[in-house]
Amino acid sequence: MCGIVGYVGFREASEVILDGLKRLEYRGYDSAGIAVKVNGHLEVVKKAGKLQVLADSLKEHNLSGQFGVGHTRWATHGAPTDPNAHPHTTEKGDIVVIHNGIIENYLPLKEGLIARGHTFTSETDSEVLAHLIEEKYRGDLVEAVRLALAEAYGAYALVVAHQDHEEIVVARTVSPLVIGLGEGENFVASDVPALLPYTRRVIFLHDGDMAVVTREGVKVTDLAGNPVEREVVTVEWSLEAAEKGGHPHYMLKEIYEQPRVLENTLGGRLHEEEAGVELGLKLDPTHYDKVHIVACGTAYYAAWVGKYLLEALARVPVEIDVASEYRYRDPVVDDKTLAICISQSGETIDTLEAIREAKRKGAGTLGVINAKGSSITREVDDTLYIHAGPEIGVASTKAYIAMLAAMAMLAVWMGRARGRLDEKTAREFLGEMRKLPRLVEETLELRPQVAHIAEKYHQAQDYLFLGRHIQAPTAYEGALKLKEISYIHAEAYPAGEMKHGPIALIDERLPVVVLATQSPFYEKTVSNIQEVRARGGRVIAVATEGDTEVKKFAQDVIYVPQTHHLLAPVVSVVPLQLLAYETAVFLGRDVDQPRNLAKSVTVE
Ligand code: F6R
Repeated sequence: MCGIVGYVGFREASEVILDGLKRLEYRGYDSAGIAVKVNGHLEVVKKAGKLQVLADSLKEHNLSGQFGVGHTRWATHGAPTDPNAHPHTTEKGDIVVIHNGIIENYLPLKEGLIARGHTFTSETDSEVLAHLIEEKYRGDLVEAVRLALAEAYGAYALVVAHQDHEEIVVARTVSPLVIGLGEGENFVASDVPALLPYTRRVIFLHDGDMAVVTREGVKVTDLAGNPVEREVVTVEWSLEAAEKGGHPHYMLKEIYEQPRVLENTLGGRLHEEEAGVELGLKLDPTHYDKVHIVACGTAYYAAWVGKYLLEALARVPVEIDVASEYRYRDPVVDDKTLAICISQSGETIDTLEAIREAKRKGAGTLGVINAKGSSITREVDDTLYIHAGPEIGVASTKAYIAMLAAMAMLAVWMGRARGRLDEKTAREFLGEMRKLPRLVEETLELRPQVAHIAEKYHQAQDYLFLGRHIQAPTAYEGALKLKEISYIHAEAYPAGEMKHGPIALIDERLPVVVLATQSPFYEKTVSNIQEVRARGGRVIAVATEGDTEVKKFAQDVIYVPQTHHLLAPVVSVVPLQLLAYETAVFLGRDVDQPRNLAKSVTVE
């Protein structure tokens, strides 16, 4: 949430920063700003609106210099206006501050600063840091930042520059920050994609770290100034993986990457001969007698699918929670609880806090995570990486499919270890999993048909999505995708619930997407389709290839390939992703940067 880029070296800082911000724009895109040292002074340009507005405005300002910082914002305190954009500075203008996160005690700090003669120009909490650091500054910027942070508390990824020192002083608590290491140049950013054109050698800062970044090197300390050792990690993501690769949108590129992503997630981990999976986990699956899964948004729907998989294959009781609720419900947890959190970014604060809560109460903790080195991976006992590669589209697609595959593997892992999944069933299930990349590849061929359906219904005001059992979360995920990027109101229900209320919504204007793939519950779902038809609703069924029955009741049938019914969500979600995408394109929406959203949510 919010993107930061800082540069000190020999290149044009504004070019490096704008290029980096472009790669981070998925983190926030309501305003952007940059500060570059030009002829000994920090010059700031900041603009409400997309990054392009800033880029256009920079054509009129000569910001030539080799040292600077920039930001793309997702508003928390204060509307997206020019003054509220970062960097923030003071009347003197010699210090600039960029801040992601929230300073919780900013109001008393601000009152004190105003009383001492400071004038504020924005409504943000972040601006207090600029004034506070200025007040503490006696020629040593690092010391001033340290003293300011002793008074300000909350969450921050903080980046500070002073015109008299060609160094970037950074600090983090909660909000992510990564340092990129070059030769004669160094970088800071809130996420790896900004660094990929320049370096793959990075240091992920931990909570409570500060660092001083100069052309010559990087010094990491704790907030008290004691040196700390941080590993230099080489990131494997290629630059190409973080770019659009010829597709009009990241989201479409990521939808098309899904067969390859599944190969990566499953790669080398399925062992049909031994009827098991090799996940390289330290945790002992036989130790736990219940599982709690926490996650947010799309990852929560992966948790829901995971519940069905774990209960079916490992016969272990599973509770799932939206992470922001979990920590406040005083969950019953003991050392026999395995708490699993699922997160693409590994930075979602609600998820992080939920897993901390489980850990505090004695649970073993496992992260199912995409982003290597992310905050959650440092706090959990063990991590299962989903290997989806960088996901840039704000609406999650490929990470979701990889999470589903990871949860299926976990279910086999637990089921086999607990003696609840016999060899034959495990082998057959793994055989079905092995086919998934090919099946998803085939499913992608549905795009023209789905585009046609999207066009037919793109003026609908509302959509309803229905599914039973393990396809209920698929219905929710389909509805979430559609509302996120098309802004069409969409609701999802477990199909059996429809008659308990939502059926009142049905009329001839309401498209109803029904997940009706083959499963032990197929007949019941077909009955629900008939209930919709009887009330004039327009049914778009997602059914298994070869099903001739469903055609009798649905206006449109999208046929997906046959798979094990517990794996059906993996193939069935693909046409729903495409439906959301094509609808958004028809409506002229900003697919990769839908309004009000940001990719990784690091505020509660
Ligand atoms: C939806 C979406 C969000 C995220 C949620 C959790 O398309 O992307 O709902 O799934 O914010 O994010 P992570 O997985 O990074 O914890």
